[in-house]
Amino acid sequence: MDSENIYKIIQADCLKFLRRRAITNIDLTFVDPPFNQGKDYKYFNDTQPEEKYWSWLQEILKEIYTISTEGGAIYFMQREKNTEHVIRVLREANWVFQNLIIWKKMTSAVPSRYRYSKHHQIIVFATKGKKPRVFNRLRIDPPKAPNHKYERTNGMFVTDVWDDIRELTSGYFAGDEAIRNNRGERVHTQQSPIALLLRIILSSTKQGDIVFDPFAGTGVTLVVASQLKRKSIGIEIDPEYVELIRTRLKSLRPSDSVQRYFSYYRYTHNLTEIWQTPYFSTITQMQIFKDKQG
Ligand SMILES: C[S@@+](CC[C@H](N)C(=O)[O-])C[C@H]1O[C@@H](n2cnc3c(N)ncnc32)[C@H](O)[C@@H]1O
Repeated sequence: MDSENIYKIIQADCLKFLRRRAITNIDLTFVDPPFNQGKDYKYFNDTQPEEKYWSWLQEILKEIYTISTEGGAIYFMQREKNTEHVIRVLREANWVFQNLIIWKKMTSAVPSRYRYSKHHQIIVFATKGKKPRVFNRLRIDPPKAPNHKYERTNGMFVTDVWDDIRELTSGYFAGDEAIRNNRGERVHTQQSPIALLLRIILSSTKQGDIVFDPFAGTGVTLVVASQLKRKSIGIEIDPEYVELIRTRLKSLRPSDSVQRYFSYYRYTHNLTEIWQTPYFSTITQMQIFKDKQG
C-alpha cells in the first residue's frame, strides 16, 4: 500500500485476485456488484443464469470472510427483489446478519401495475462473528418532520431506513458529483454517492482501519476512506475505470469532499475521534480570526 496516499487500486477480476490471498486484515467491505440486470458492462456478462450469478457472489463473500478481521463488517448493496438471495449467500458464506438497511430513493418511484411502486434499494449489513468490532452510533440532524411537535436539541440516531441520501441519477438531481465526459454524459451509471460511503465507513471503522471494495467502479469508497484517514483497497476489472479512479484520487473535486456533511453528524458523541480532518483546524482558525477581530 502506498503509505503516503494510503490507498491501493488493483485492476483485476476480484474473485481471481481474492483467491490469491494477497491481502488480509480487512475491517470493512462494501460490495456493490453488477446486478445481473442486463446492463452493458464491457468486462462483465450482466445477463447470467441466476444460479451461476449467486454462486459466483457467494464465492467472493467467502473469500472476503477469510481475509476479514474478527468482527469485521460487510455492506452488500442490491436490488430489493434480491433481498432473499443476499441474506442467504451471506449466511452461507458465514457472515452474521445485523441489519437490512432500506435506502429509500429521493427520485420518483419505479411504477408497477400489479404491485406497489419501487422506491428503495437494500443494503445488508453483516459481520464476521456475532458482534461488530466497531460500531459508531452516528447521530444526524435532518429537518424536523411536520408532525413532530418539539424541536430536537441533539439530533437523532441513524436507523435502518436511510431516506436522507440522494442517489446520483442521469437527470438534474445528479448535480456535479456525478463524473461526466466532455459531452456531459455520466461516465459510470452506477456511481454511488459520497454520502452513502461516508455513513458506512464512519459507522463501521476507526482511523487506520482497512476498507475494501471489490467492485470499485468510480472509486467512491477509496475517495471517502482516504479523506477519513482509513486505508483502502479497491479492485476494478475495467481498465478505463481504474484510470478514472487514479485521476479522481489524485485531484479530488469539491463535490468529492466529505466536509459538507460534517455539521449534519455533529451530535455524534465520538465524532472528533472518528472524523479528524482539516475541518477542525479551519474552524479553530476561523474562531481565532473572529475573536481577534472582536
Ligand atoms: C455497480 S458497479 C460499482 C459502482 C461503484 N460502487 C461506484 O460507486 O462507482 C460494479 C463495478 O464492478 C466492475 N466489475 C464487474 N465485474 C468485475 C469483476 N469480476 N471484478 C472486479 N470488478 C468487476 C464493473 O466494471 C463496475 O465498475
